[in-house]
Amino acid sequence: MSATAPEHTTFESYNPPTRLLAGPGPSNVDPRVLEAMKKPLVSHLDPHFWDRLPILADMISAFYGRQDGVSMTLSMSGTSGMEAGLVNLVAPGETVIAASGGFFGNRIQEMVRRRGANLVALNVPFGRHVPNEEILAALEQHPEAVMVCVVHAETSTGVAHPVQELGEAMRALGSDALLYVDCVTAIGAMPIEADAWGIDYAYACSQKAIAAPPGLSPITLSTRAIERLGRDGMPVPYSMDIAELIKYWVDRPMTYHHTTPNLGYYALDEALCLGLQEGLQTRFDRHADAGAYIQAGFRERGFDLLADPSCQLAQLSAVCVPEGIDGKAIQGRLLNEFNIEVGGGLGPTAPPIWRVGMMGVNANRETADRVLAAFDQVLPNGAH
Ligand SMILES: Cc1ncc(COP(=O)(O)O)c(C=O)c1O
Repeated sequence: MSATAPEHTTFESYNPPTRLLAGPGPSNVDPRVLEAMKKPLVSHLDPHFWDRLPILADMISAFYGRQDGVSMTLSMSGTSGMEAGLVNLVAPGETVIAASGGFFGNRIQEMVRRRGANLVALNVPFGRHVPNEEILAALEQHPEAVMVCVVHAETSTGVAHPVQELGEAMRALGSDALLYVDCVTAIGAMPIEADAWGIDYAYACSQKAIAAPPGLSPITLSTRAIERLGRDGMPVPYSMDIAELIKYWVDRPMTYHHTTPNLGYYALDEALCLGLQEGLQTRFDRHADAGAYIQAGFRERGFDLLADPSCQLAQLSAVCVPEGIDGKAIQGRLLNEFNIEVGGGLGPTAPPIWRVGMMGVNANRETADRVLAAFDQVLPNGAH
């Protein structure tokens, strides 16, 4: 091993540009959220911090519509929240029904496979969701299934899944299968009623409509999901062991699990406070308005949207790149000339799209106008 410095090291501080993050996430954060990260660092073992944890958990529960069960955040990004639900609640060899109409639904299916579970994969083309009737039919065919997985807001396509109807129907069937829901792009942007809809496990991220920095995954479990933790012979990776995490978050005196990244926790805490001060319904209405506004703007300019209108999300619009236009080049111009980030298609099977997010502090008509004005500059004839 050489002790010399790598060739390109400058030893100067990194100075990132100021961008409007109008893609699929992260979204911009409120200055108060950044300020929160300057609060004095206390340790994860400081009783002052433990006293705050139940409040943070309650705020996460409020965003999930959870009163009966437990909520907390994992010190990992949304992908780990996705995996944690599977490794805590599904044993290898058990059956899982997983619905997908996009990149993240496909990722859940891949994780189910890697868990060594028996995957019942239900798939539809990008732009739609698997109809609940098909999921319920699969459940009748596979009464042994221990879990049904859906993505509430599929960020790769802009499609919403009707989770409420699914949860109610599963309850009406008296199904024992747990309902597992990806709420990464849903949380903070649209209603989630975990108790009322019968959601057993849900995970999210910090960086989209919650509008905190990335890297945390708020999760929530129903009482019946908690009861299934720690089953005999269930191999759970230590870092994701929710039963162990409950000993830190809920039990007092607490038991150390890992050193929590407290500055990130402060930021999440502040972002959740801001959301609750605004009022969740007001926040959902704001997202609905901004989404409808920017989508109307794109349609007026001749662009098509990928999602079927019956299941179009407000907070994420997948705008079809017209034939003959280089979508990536447009994305590059928006970034380099206007400091605006929008996303492109995700994964090798994605159709040519731009993904435009109206999330968190960015969910307003002024931001939408800024994005549309930049599109007008780079594509003066719209889609034509
Ligand atoms: C629907 C959905 N699920 C899961 C993830 C993964 O989250 P993360 O990138 O925070 O790991 C994302 C990220 O964009 C997402 O949009």
